[in-house]
Amino acid sequence: MKTLLRIDSSPRKTESLSRQLADVLQQKLENEGNYSTLSRDVYYDDLVKLGNEDSVTAYFTPDNQRTVIQKEAVKASDVLSQEFANADAYIFAVPMYNFGVTAGLKAYIDLIARAGTSFKYTEKGPEGLLKGKKAFVIITTGGTKLGTEVDYVSGYLKTFLNFVGITDIEFINSDQVMTNAEKILSDAKEEINQLVLN
Ligand SMILES: Cc1cc2nc3c(=O)[nH]c(=O)nc-3n(C[C@H](O)[C@H](O)[C@H](O)COP(=O)(O)O)c2cc1C
Repeated sequence: MKTLLRIDSSPRKTESLSRQLADVLQQKLENEGNYSTLSRDVYYDDLVKLGNEDSVTAYFTPDNQRTVIQKEAVKASDVLSQEFANADAYIFAVPMYNFGVTAGLKAYIDLIARAGTSFKYTEKGPEGLLKGKKAFVIITTGGTKLGTEVDYVSGYLKTFLNFVGITDIEFINSDQVMTNAEKILSDAKEEINQLVLN
């Protein structure tokens, strides 16, 4: 059985469209793709507070030279980055907030991008270590059209995923929902149901 890591990042729980679409996709992957799901709610896990001076200093200090305080400060990042590296596939459920991702998702990404776990430095520059994995990225927006110059979500997530070695990415766009929420949501659900899993 393969591990699906589901990452929710909306402050909304019951009314969230990205969570609703992620539910449909999770069901499909569990039913047709032989996945079992591990969930992370990066908005409510309050991850912003986990990054501080000691944890960032620890990132730049070899494991065996870290102080006790640095080891403690980097523990959450160790766990989250290893969990991310161990997964076979990912669902990112991503609302657009002020043209970017929510603070929780940004904080999560800052904790999981770790040299030695998700990427490494080579003579030619950084190289992603998470090869052969699949990511599904569901993006919801109220009025902004995805793919336009003010969309700082799609390109950011593609760049981050490529940076850690994940190049097989399926984007499910559910944008401009304020124009016709019902239709846009049902089209996105249909798109998910039509996905061919390999
Ligand atoms: C604080 C805040 C900022 C938002 N910023 C944007 C934005 O920049 N562009 C946009 O199209 N929609 C914006 N929206 C609308 C959300 O993207 C939209 O409601 C989306 O469905 C949220 O995802 P969710 O339904 O999973 O919570 C914003 C909503 C809030 C509450």
